[in-house]
Amino acid sequence: MASETRTHRVVGINGGPRKNWNTARLLEEALCGSASQGAATELVHLYDLDFKGCRSCFHCKTRENYLNGRCAQRDGLSPVLELLAGSTALVMGSPIYLADVTGALRSFIERFVFINLAYDQASPSVLEKGPSVGLIYTMNIPRESLGPFGYSVLFKSHLDFFSRLNGPTIEQLASCDTLQFDDYSRFHAPMFDEAHKREVRERRFPEDLAQAFGMGVRLAAGE
Ligand SMILES: Cc1cc2nc3c(=O)[nH]c(=O)nc-3n(C[C@H](O)[C@H](O)[C@H](O)COP(=O)(O)O)c2cc1C
Repeated sequence: MASETRTHRVVGINGGPRKNWNTARLLEEALCGSASQGAATELVHLYDLDFKGCRSCFHCKTRENYLNGRCAQRDGLSPVLELLAGSTALVMGSPIYLADVTGALRSFIERFVFINLAYDQASPSVLEKGPSVGLIYTMNIPRESLGPFGYSVLFKSHLDFFSRLNGPTIEQLASCDTLQFDDYSRFHAPMFDEAHKREVRERRFPEDLAQAFGMGVRLAAGE
């Protein structure tokens, strides 16, 4: 098993392109929660990086290397994977795009999860103790549609992947019915009721921020 010396650090991974909107705000709040527990924090914007998903080179599955948890692909994600190997927790955030996380977060997940998994039923994780993991999703659909639209299945699949990393905790937060535009009058979007969206933003979104803060607290504590 790979044994890393980990710094008390929580890394935020923004899988969305916007740096000041729903996903980024929730990630920042989660990191504030972690910082309140004395953890160092860092926020990475995946859209700033030049990287691809897994290329199936299988270097990380060779007999010599499978325990290293290292990716042979060198690109913009390499420093982030190294940072994570030495961190106690990560919290990922993504807008839902076409009923899934963004392509950028998906590519990140391929790289980060695959290097830490072994093709070994008896010992599927290469990590003795992996990081705590948080997942934050933002989306247009209302909460009551999560099940009917199949999003709960997506969230469960992430839970299954990340639970194989042997971290102390995994948490998920869905922020629904988000405000998508600053000015709805500029866009052709008759399916959205701007007044309702603004009400959710003012009434519900602060609760989501508070939940993100609490998530950050628990991720830092390794609960
Ligand atoms: C390309 C694209 C596809 C989207 N697909 C969905 C979707 O399938 N389901 C949904 O609920 N919202 C969808 N949305 C809305 C976003 O998930 C939502 O506005 C989210 O809160 C945006 O995050 P941000 O404010 O951090 O950018 C989509 C938005 C874009 C730009």
